[in-house]
Parts: sequence; C-alpha cells; structure tokens
Amino acid sequence: MARRAATANRRKSAAKATTVRPAPRKPAPRKSLMKRAAPKLSVAKLGKQVVVSHADPKSFKGDGLRAFFEYRDLGLMGVTGGRVHAHVVRAVPGKHADAPRHWHDLDFQFVYVLKGWAIFDYEGYGKVKLTAGTMVYQPPRIRHKEIAHSDDLELIEITSPGEFATHTAV
Ligand SMILES: [Fe+2]
Repeated sequence: MARRAATANRRKSAAKATTVRPAPRKPAPRKSLMKRAAPKLSVAKLGKQVVVSHADPKSFKGDGLRAFFEYRDLGLMGVTGGRVHAHVVRAVPGKHADAPRHWHDLDFQFVYVLKGWAIFDYEGYGKVKLTAGTMVYQPPRIRHKEIAHSDDLELIEITSPGEFATHTAV
C-alpha cells in the first residue's frame, strides 16, 4: 500500500516537473521553411569532428538578439552545416527584459536553465517561472514574451536551423 502511494506520488511529482502541452493553434503553412536551404538533420551530412567548448567567462559576447543578454557560442554551427546552433545565454546584470512579444521562424527550440530564474509568457500556456533545472521546448512559431529575469540567469538554448528570423507578434 505504502509502496503504491509512493509510486503514485513519484508519478505526480514527475508530472509536475515536466509539462507538455499542445501548441495553442495549428501553425500556419510553412512553405518558406520547407524550401529552406538547411535540410533536415542527417547523420551522413553532419561533420565527423569532435567539438569541445570549455567554460570561459571571456567567451561571452554582447552581440546577440537581446541587449540584456550575453551569449557564448558553443561552436556547433560549423560542424552541423548551420543546422544546429547551441549557446549559453546569461543576463547582463542591471539590464532588464524589454523585448516585445515575438515569435521565431525556426523548426526546433530548446531551453535549459542553469542558474537564476526567468519568467516567460507562452501563448496557450501562460506565465511560467523557469528556474535552475527547468527545460522548455518552444514549439515552432509560438508567440511568447519574457517578463523578467534574475541578474544571475544563465541558460542553454539550442535551435534548428542555427540562423532564423525573429518577428514581433501582432
Ligand atoms: Fe524568443
């Protein structure tokens, strides 16, 4: 009995820790993505070299999408022919999120929080506070907005393709 209750509790907490919800609406036709130059991932087409990127605070650059973040490129663009981009994103202390509600024209987006916290508002999901250990899969083209983040926020973001357009949501 106790074992059954413990198993049920584990299932409940696992369900709380990971939430998967459907995209709020059927995505619009994506002809532009279907014809894009970067094809689907294929083992045969990926580079054969090992890529190792060690932590180095000096490798963060303020040349990314948002001025309130700094970005450390993990070096996957070359080896994947531009199909995959991975970077570490960290907050610039004292700068606050001021980006409008927006969406990204991509096929895959994954976020994993390493340190600190951030609050996002995802279309069809609502506001959620991400903390260390939180993973988010953002479906293609989902409208979202960052509300706030801590000065020590640090996260990993992986996207495919590596380069993509970002549009302000209307
Ligand atoms: Fe975004």
